[in-house]
Amino acid sequence: ALRGSFAQKAQKPNQSSHHGLQLQASYKVAILGAAGGIGQPLALLIKMSPLVSALNLYDIANVKGVAADLSHCNTPSQVLDFTGASELGNCLKGVNVVVIPAGVPRKPGMTRDDLFNINANIVKTLVEAVADNCPDAFIHVISNPVNSTVPIAAEVLKQKGVYDPKKLFGVTTLDVVRANTFVAEKKNLKLIDVDVPVIGGHAGITILPLLSKTKPSVRFSDEELEQLTIRIQNAGTEVVEAKAGAGSATLSMAYAAARFVESSLRALDGDGDVYECSFVQSDLTDLPFFASRVKLGRKGIEAMIPSDLQGLSEYEEKALEALKPELKASIEKGIAFAQKQP
Ligand code: NAD
Ligand code: LMR
Repeated sequence: ALRGSFAQKAQKPNQSSHHGLQLQASYKVAILGAAGGIGQPLALLIKMSPLVSALNLYDIANVKGVAADLSHCNTPSQVLDFTGASELGNCLKGVNVVVIPAGVPRKPGMTRDDLFNINANIVKTLVEAVADNCPDAFIHVISNPVNSTVPIAAEVLKQKGVYDPKKLFGVTTLDVVRANTFVAEKKNLKLIDVDVPVIGGHAGITILPLLSKTKPSVRFSDEELEQLTIRIQNAGTEVVEAKAGAGSATLSMAYAAARFVESSLRALDGDGDVYECSFVQSDLTDLPFFASRVKLGRKGIEAMIPSDLQGLSEYEEKALEALKPELKASIEKGIAFAQKQP
């Protein structure tokens, strides 16, 4: 009955009813950074999934209590806790989906790139362990700056000889969730119906909502387009400022990450109609990584959707060209970091 709770889908509303079978809890999910602001509510939402049989929670501290607490919920998954580097390998063995929200969040006045120095090392270390223990897993990178941490993860996986670009994802679902919410509010639409693809990257102007491709089809004035685009691009900062030093988005992020996990699990389970936007290795533009809608299947990305980048409005075409230099620099910064490490 819980199926569908995070299953608001990108653009293909008529979902075939799977195999018509009762869903079986059979997948193993690990959260790295599970005691944090995102990790805790994300663990709760994943604990509610009927598809999950094991939920492994890892952090450098405070994860025992989170796991004990969560384990009392009468849903199928078994919750286990893992603390510190010595337990990381065991946390990852046999895992199908690894979600990484480990790292420091922004404070007012900071950009996501200001987190690079700390989070780059954290992501590198965690992805090395993923490569060693569950190289076949889907990897969902939440830690910022996503525009750089995903290229870092790719390099680490390459160095370990296990890189599968179809299974490495930068989580940009929150941008889609926000775009859907803001558009529905502005145009007085039923939330469940609205779907806006968001492409590019996950920072400032690299976040590009394709409002011209909103489903259901909606007309926006130039002023509405500009206001909505800027609000979606600045939504993270909106939360950072409202939290006034206490961190960035955690609850909406957990909701969005849970949706992306649920979509991945449905894809692993054979649902042939799963689409999500994500920041992935891409040949849709001249940049090596790019967020766009992808079709998910048992082996990860099954197809890119090049037509999504065709027929853009003039405003979107311009914004796409404008975001490329920043996104390129962030990608190169991540790659250079990973390549200069011993
Ligand atoms: P937080 O500080 O509340 O939690 C981070 C957790 O990571 C902490 O529990 C900490 O102990 C843990 N951690 C630190 N180093 C670790 C390591 N080496 N191994 C494992 N765990 C480690 O922060 P948060 O609010 O949960 O945000 C986490 C990250 O997610 C930040 O980088 C933030 O910018 C990012 N974020 C991304 C998005 C997105 O859309 N992709 C949205 C919101 C936040
Ligand atoms: C977000 O978009 O909310 C996250 O990337 C966190 C942040 O720093 O804004």
